[in-house]
Amino acid sequence: MKRARIVGTGMAVPEKVLTNADLEKIVDTTDEWIVSRTGIRERRIASEHEALSDFALPAAQRALEMAGIPGDEVDLVICATVSPDTPFPATSTQIQAAIGAAGAAAFDISAACTGFIYGLGIANQYLRAGGAKTALVVGGEILSKFTDWTDRNTCVLFGDGAGAVVLRADGESESGILGVSLHSDGHLGHLLQRPAGGSRRPPSLRDLEADQSFIKMRGNETFKVAVRSLAEVSDEVLKAAGLAHEEVDWFIPHQANLRIIEAVGRRLEIREGHTYVNIERYGNTSAASVPIALDELNRAGRIEEGDIVLCAAFGSGLVWGAGLFRW
Ligand code: ACO
Repeated sequence: MKRARIVGTGMAVPEKVLTNADLEKIVDTTDEWIVSRTGIRERRIASEHEALSDFALPAAQRALEMAGIPGDEVDLVICATVSPDTPFPATSTQIQAAIGAAGAAAFDISAACTGFIYGLGIANQYLRAGGAKTALVVGGEILSKFTDWTDRNTCVLFGDGAGAVVLRADGESESGILGVSLHSDGHLGHLLQRPAGGSRRPPSLRDLEADQSFIKMRGNETFKVAVRSLAEVSDEVLKAAGLAHEEVDWFIPHQANLRIIEAVGRRLEIREGHTYVNIERYGNTSAASVPIALDELNRAGRIEEGDIVLCAAFGSGLVWGAGLFRW
C-alpha cells in the first residue's frame, strides 16, 4: 500500500507581539506567574481586520513552495480549526480557491488543539486508499477573537497563527506516515468549551454580555487528563509501529503548557534535547501549534532524512491523538 509522505511545510503568524508585560497591564497577573506556570513569554495576536485565512493561506503557500508543487495538483484541502473566518462557508474552500486547486475536495474539521493530528489522520487514509494524490493539511487558529480579555485564567494562554503540510502518496519510499492514533471522550467536554454561539445557544446579546461566547476552561482538571492522554496515545502509536521510545528523534508535542510537555516527555523517556519547544514565543496556538513547530524544525534543517518524528496533541472535546512518521 502507498505511504503518505510530508513533502512541504509552512507557517505564518501575526506581526503583533503581546508580551507578558503587556498582559500585566490588562489583567491581574505577572510575568513570573505566567512563565513559571506555563512557560509562555509572548504570543502573536491578529489585528482587528485579520482572520484565519490571512495566515492559513500564506502557511499553505509556503508549504507548496517548499514541495515544489503547484496549487492545481492539490486534490484534497483540509483545514483544522475552531476559529474559521466564518461559521460557513468553510475556510478550507477559501484556501482551495486562492491556491487554484480547482475541483479539489475541501472541508474544515473541528478537533480543537488536536485538529492538525486529526487532519493528518484523515489525509493519510485518503492518500493510502487512493482517494487523493496530493493533500494540503492546514492547522490554524485565531483564538484571540474568542478570548475573554478580562479572564486571567485563559487570556494569558492563547496565541494566533497557522501551520501547513503538503502530503503526497508515495509507493516506493520507506519514509512517510507510519501511523496515526486518534481518540476522544465527550464526557469531559465541559472542561474546555465556548458555551454559546452554536445552535444550542445561538449568538445573542445576553450571552455576549454574560461572556458565554468566550473560551471557558477548567485548567487544572484539563492539565491532568492532558498528561495521561498524551503519554498513552504516544505510546500506542509507537507500539503499533514496532518502535521503542528511545528511537524517537523528535518529539513535537502540542504547545499548551511547558509543564505538560515536560511531564509527558519524562513519562515517555524521550531523550534529552529531542523534544521541540517553542511555547515561549507563541503560547498555545491550538490546531496550529504542531505544524508551526514542525515547520520551524524543518526549515532550521534539524530533521534529518530517516529521523523518527512523533507528534501528539490534546484539546477540547476532549480529543487527543498522535502521529508518527519517518522523515
Ligand atoms: N495570573 C495569576 N494568577 C492566576 C492566573 C494568572 N494569569 N491564572 C490563574 N491564576 C490563579 C488562580 O486564580 C488560582 O488562584 P487561587 O489558588 O487563589 O484560586 C491559582 O492561580 C492556581 O490556579 P490553577 O488553575 O490551579 O493553576 P494551574 O497551575 O493549574 O495552571 C493552567 C493553570 C496554566 C491553565 C494549567 O492548568 C494548564 O495549562 N491546563 C491545561 C491547558 C490545556 O492543556 N488545554 C488543552 C488545550 S487548549 C484547546 O483545546 C483550545
